[in-house]
Amino acid sequence: MQPLSQVLPPSATTTPEGHLSIGGCDVVALAAEFGTPLVIYDAALLRDTMRRYVQALRAHDPRAEVVYASKAFWAQALLRMAHQEDLRMDVASGGELFMALHAGFPAGKIVMHGNAKDAREIGEALDAMVGLIVVDSLDEIALLDQLAGERGRRQNVLVRVTPGVKPSTHAYISTGQLDSKFGFSLEGGLAAQAVAACRAAANVNLVGLHCHIGSQIFELGAYPAAAALLAAFVKEQGGDDLTVMDMGGGLGIAYTRDDDPPSVEEFADTVMDAVHAEWDAAGLPRPRVLVEPGRSIVGRAGVTVYRVTGTKDIPGVRRYVAVDGGMSDLMRPMLYGATYEAILPDRPEAEATDTLRLVGKHCESGDVLIQEAELPPLARDDLVCIPATGAYGVAMASNYNGVTRPAVVFVEDGRATVVVRRETYAELVARDL
Ligand code: LLP
Repeated sequence: MQPLSQVLPPSATTTPEGHLSIGGCDVVALAAEFGTPLVIYDAALLRDTMRRYVQALRAHDPRAEVVYASKAFWAQALLRMAHQEDLRMDVASGGELFMALHAGFPAGKIVMHGNAKDAREIGEALDAMVGLIVVDSLDEIALLDQLAGERGRRQNVLVRVTPGVKPSTHAYISTGQLDSKFGFSLEGGLAAQAVAACRAAANVNLVGLHCHIGSQIFELGAYPAAAALLAAFVKEQGGDDLTVMDMGGGLGIAYTRDDDPPSVEEFADTVMDAVHAEWDAAGLPRPRVLVEPGRSIVGRAGVTVYRVTGTKDIPGVRRYVAVDGGMSDLMRPMLYGATYEAILPDRPEAEATDTLRLVGKHCESGDVLIQEAELPPLARDDLVCIPATGAYGVAMASNYNGVTRPAVVFVEDGRATVVVRRETYAELVARDL
């Protein structure tokens, strides 16, 4: 198990019987009790990571804030924990806004995102009195101005800027470049137009800028590069209204033992130092800095356990091992070619002697969880665990092939709590009239 330790939660250990244990709970016993596929989160690691983010940022400036990007994983139990840990909440749709409010999140701490907010969602955000709306198009600024005016409100906003920095990550999760559906580019003057439009709108109160350059980023140099461009832009725009700088999320995590991401502290130090240095150099007062991590808070804390439903040996080709989940609970391998590793909960230290393709149960050839998994011999009914599935796993789950979405449990100090129960067949037809 040692080699996989950086991919599993740090609480992962081996029980006297030789089973994988997380948060003091035997994973084999959890699968037996709650069924599979099962998503298990180490609750202490979730809380600890939130605290580390807050501390690391506030060591630089007590005004700094961590805005959790709820799209990465939005169970009510997690949103409540984020509130207890003094995080703010990034929501990217009316639905995410609803879930945050339902969890008791104070509206003033909510940051509303979205490149295509419609009138209903903007109205919902205004009625809830969210703290910040991040505007993403000139159409949106005009609509927000109108809808806020109708309510006699003046809404605080950030302008989302695309600085023209391209981080080294998958194209589908890279957002800071000029050619992007997100934000207003510095190049070509769109960002300047957006700032002017906000300043001219009677019911819009511009308080700062937002910039999210991308996701699953290992090379932190993209943040100082963005900060330099943003400081220059703030200086060029003049005025004293740009007092908030939201630097987005994006810190990557380890999915395999080859991945070596920077720590939360390295990310926080890099971002804070860069913003402070650039704003100081430009002679500007230091802004209140916000960051919006999603993946790096929940990713490593979550592991998914599947049960093997069957194996197939194609002579001269390869061995296939199929499990009881797949692209309906973990889309990332299919969408981004993301790589994962697997571990067997009942014998985590057994020697890996087989090379096999770990596949899901869906009617798609592309439903492959791991192209080339190195594992001990596997047979029907064996359990297989994929670590680092806590971010953008169940959050992107679907009902494809009528597969019900998995249960989610939080484990801590040897106790397991179901925080999301398994979906039922009845729920598959509940919306059909
Ligand atoms: N802020 C904004 C405005 C975002 O769009 C995102 C992610 C975040 C913060 C959080 O980024 P993070 O810290 O999680 O990297 N489904 C993809 C990731 C999509 C990210 C979308 N935006 C994946 O599974 O890799």
